Amino acid sequence: MDKHITDIDLSLDSEKLTHFNLQRRHLLQALVALGLSSPLASNLIHASSKNLIQKKIPSSGELLPVIGMGTSRTFDALYDDDLLNKLQLVMQSFFDNQGALIDSSPMYKTSEEVTGLLLKKAHNSQKLFAATKVWTYGKQSGIEQMQASRELWGIKRFDLMQIHNLRDWKVHYSTLRTMKKEGKIRYIGVTTSHGRFHDELEEVLKNNHFDFLQLSYNISNRDVERRLLPIAQDKGIAVIANRPFQRGDLFQQVRGKKLPDWATDLGISSWGQYFLKFVISHPAITCAIPATTKVKHMLDNMGAQFGVLPEQTQRKEMIKYLA
Ligand SMILES: NC(=O)c1ccc[n+]([C@@H]2O[C@H](COP(=O)([O-])OP(=O)(O)OC[C@H]3O[C@@H](n4cnc5c(N)ncnc54)[C@H](OP(=O)(O)O)[C@@H]3O)[C@@H](O)[C@H]2O)c1
Repeated sequence: MDKHITDIDLSLDSEKLTHFNLQRRHLLQALVALGLSSPLASNLIHASSKNLIQKKIPSSGELLPVIGMGTSRTFDALYDDDLLNKLQLVMQSFFDNQGALIDSSPMYKTSEEVTGLLLKKAHNSQKLFAATKVWTYGKQSGIEQMQASRELWGIKRFDLMQIHNLRDWKVHYSTLRTMKKEGKIRYIGVTTSHGRFHDELEEVLKNNHFDFLQLSYNISNRDVERRLLPIAQDKGIAVIANRPFQRGDLFQQVRGKKLPDWATDLGISSWGQYFLKFVISHPAITCAIPATTKVKHMLDNMGAQFGVLPEQTQRKEMIKYLA
């Protein structure tokens, strides 16, 4: 049933809507019959009662839910049992609300090990889209680091392997091309953040074949709209937006400010959803990867991947409202 719900596209006609409502009623009836009133059940109802937004990975056509999860700093929790328990629930809320892409890196201290520990206990994780990075110098060192990451996550293979901040990119690019041919990874990516290396990245993207690009993009940091996002669109590269909340700073900027009345028309009920819907409504962006240590924030963030997305004029209004 999950599969059926996930495949519903954005342009539901009345026949599909009737079918969808029937499916939903069956699901609710089944849950009631099973006596399920747990948070898992309510999350399932939440996830299935709305319209999940997904976007295509251009190089394959595969669909990806527009909200993923970052792990930088938030998952560096190996030595904090209380936080580990909370993060287990954070990850569970992610999967219960149809989350798929989790992004990490060997740069994020214990985050990969924590991701692996939590994945072992997580339910509903079949749709995991595992993404990490290679962040070292030298061919052999890169191969060993990727192998170590795979063991830490406890998975057979990564869906996406990204070259972190272009570090030794030529060497790793060649390794990744071979790994992709051999079926050891499914997609190749490259990342940057904080607006660094954009000139070099432009050249790298123009002259090579990447499936994914990861960069910083949010409502107050839109530099990439000028050059990098158009290149990604031209070349058919999927784009992951990191730092969608500018590391949390955006919430400080709107402290004490009310959401505009028209936000409800876009299915937006919090500033988190306002910021995320802005990011994922850019046509070049495939998904955003907010990071959190809190279940209530995870549920809030996952809410942004349902319903409608702002159009171009509404995106302009969103920027104007914050100015
Ligand atoms: N070069 C690269 O490859 C690169 C660079 C930067 C980032 N990244 C990736 O991108 C991910 C996201 O970036 P980021 O972690 O730097 O920053 P971010 O996602 O923009 O912001 C994270 C902060 O926002 C808060 N937050 C999350 N959801 C919230 C909500 N609904 N309401 C209020 N506060 C909320 C979190 O605090 P709470 O814990 O309190 O929720 C956390 O402090 C990283 O984790 C990493 O995976 C990659």
